[in-house]
Amino acid sequence: MVFTMSLNLFLLMAMVTTNIFSLYHLSSNLQFPKPTSLTHSPIPDHRLLQLHTIRATINHLTRHYPSSDAASTNGGKPSSAAVPRDLLLYSRLSSIASSCHNHVDLLHKYMSYTPFSICPHDSDLQETLILNGCHPLPRRRCFSKTPSKPPPSLPLHPFPIFLPDSSVIWSKYACKSFTCLSEKQPNIGFDLKKQRESLVTFSSELDLPIPQFMQIAKLANSVIRIGIDIGGGTGTFAAVMKELYNVTVLTTTMNINAPYNEAVALRGLVPLHVPLQQRLPVFDGVVDLVRCGRAVNRWIPLVVMEFMLYDVDRVLRGGGYLWLDRFFSRREDLEKVFGPMIGKLGYKKVKWSVANKTDSSGLKHEEVYLTALLQKPASK
Ligand SMILES: *[C@@H]1O[C@H](CO)[C@@H](O)[C@H](O)[C@H]1NC(C)=O
Ligand SMILES: *[C@@H]1O[C@H](CO)[C@@H](O)[C@H](O)[C@H]1NC(C)=O
Repeated sequence: MVFTMSLNLFLLMAMVTTNIFSLYHLSSNLQFPKPTSLTHSPIPDHRLLQLHTIRATINHLTRHYPSSDAASTNGGKPSSAAVPRDLLLYSRLSSIASSCHNHVDLLHKYMSYTPFSICPHDSDLQETLILNGCHPLPRRRCFSKTPSKPPPSLPLHPFPIFLPDSSVIWSKYACKSFTCLSEKQPNIGFDLKKQRESLVTFSSELDLPIPQFMQIAKLANSVIRIGIDIGGGTGTFAAVMKELYNVTVLTTTMNINAPYNEAVALRGLVPLHVPLQQRLPVFDGVVDLVRCGRAVNRWIPLVVMEFMLYDVDRVLRGGGYLWLDRFFSRREDLEKVFGPMIGKLGYKKVKWSVANKTDSSGLKHEEVYLTALLQKPASK
């Protein structure tokens, strides 16, 4: 009981820093729990009301949660009438309070630090929480560790001769330098020149070289100025767009087994440290282009994928482009599931190329690649 209460309080405090306020209006018909643990605190009334609303929302979502401890703390039968179905569904996928609630032990560990001193070096823990949908993470009042010998200067060009190793804290990685990453793991994006080459040349029908894309957009009178590259690794797509066309591309990237965010930033590009299931942090209808690289593929749960596509639609302006670069799935799923799902967006198919994925896993699972360029209708 004491644990549950302190847990609730803890969650409350954590959630205040997040965007959960958007749920405020959804819970107006909920019963507020008695403020037993808060009565002694000097929190103003309106703040208390907000906190209660958040707690009520968390409880309400939790009640519909398929977790056993949530079921046991709630004797009554859940009534789902008041909560929109998509909210319940989404709360299971992503970044509303309940996603952190699922990993209370990790969140507890993350928030156990000494305020006003150096933060624990726990980037792995943060990465795990974020990947599990606990995002945005609560803020902390501590100093994030910085590299001990930062480089005297930083690259100005998105294709620098080398990325300065001393800008990265390497302790959690097997490799201790960018050279090591590009030599030992040639296919994870740190060979910048090779990656650049693959983005500007045509060698199979799955390729849409960047100059060709820009030409297509120009002929369609669609100006390309800003874009988002989802799962963009080291940011090479953004780098080429900047280098050749002065186009600003934000790159969403996670630090899975390598310092991708640092690499993007060292190239003078903007890394967004957000997972695939996160609502894109830009307003509706503001970008000209969203590109999804290979990180977007059949391993993403179907419903997450669907929410993602509609979020992409949200941020694209009318006439903007969705570019799927080597999306892979089973051939059958592309025909029966993903094709129709993409089709529902109602976009114009500028390019739609499907080819067999010929590596061993591709052959084994009868997988195909899809490269598609789709244009959002000018108005809806
Ligand atoms: C990019 O912008 C710079 C500075 O405004 C300009 O000098 C350059 O010509 C532009 N390059 C392209 C390809 O538009
Ligand atoms: C692609 O793979 C399928 C089997 O999954 C095969 O029937 C087909 O001939 C292949 N196509 C090409 C172009 O190799």
